[in-house]
Amino acid sequence: MAKRTGHPVKIGILNGPNLNLLGVREPAVYGHTTLPEIEAQLARIATTLGAQLVTAQCNGEGQLIDVLHAWRGDVDGVVVNAGAYSHSSLALRDAFAATSLPFVEVHLTNVYAREPERRHSMLAPTAIGVVCGFGAVGYEFALRGLVSAIRARM
Ligand code: DQA
Repeated sequence: MAKRTGHPVKIGILNGPNLNLLGVREPAVYGHTTLPEIEAQLARIATTLGAQLVTAQCNGEGQLIDVLHAWRGDVDGVVVNAGAYSHSSLALRDAFAATSLPFVEVHLTNVYAREPERRHSMLAPTAIGVVCGFGAVGYEFALRGLVSAIRARM
C-alpha cells in the first residue's frame, strides 16, 4: 500500500461486468438502484468520512486489471464488485496482489444462497472482508469497513 500519511484516504470503487446495467438488469435479483445512484451515495458517505473516491466500471477482465494497475500507488484501497469474475478470475486476484491494493469484496446478492457456481470467490481469500446480501447498501458497509481498516494500518 502506498504511504499517504497526511493525505485523505483515497478509495477506488471498481465494478465489473453487467453492473453498468443495475436498475434494469434482473431487478428482482439485483434491485432498482442504478450504479450512478450507488456511486453518488458513496460519494456522500466518503465526504462524511473525510475520504476521496474514484470510480470505474468495466465489462472486461483485462480492463479491470488495467484499472488496478492505473490505481497502484494512487488509491489506498478498493471496494470491488467483480460480478461473475469474482467466481473465476485468478488473474484479478493476482492483480490485487501485484498492486498491493487492499480490498473489500462486495456483492449485492447473498452469493452463498444462490447457485453452487456463485458460492466460491477467487477474491475472498485475499480480501480484507466480504459484504454480500444487503443490496446497494452493502457498498456503503464495504466503504466504511475499508476506510476503517486502512486508517488502522496508517
Ligand atoms: C454479483 C453476484 C455475481 O454472482 C454475479 O455474477 C453478478 C453480481 C452481485 O453483486 O450479487 O454479476 O456480484
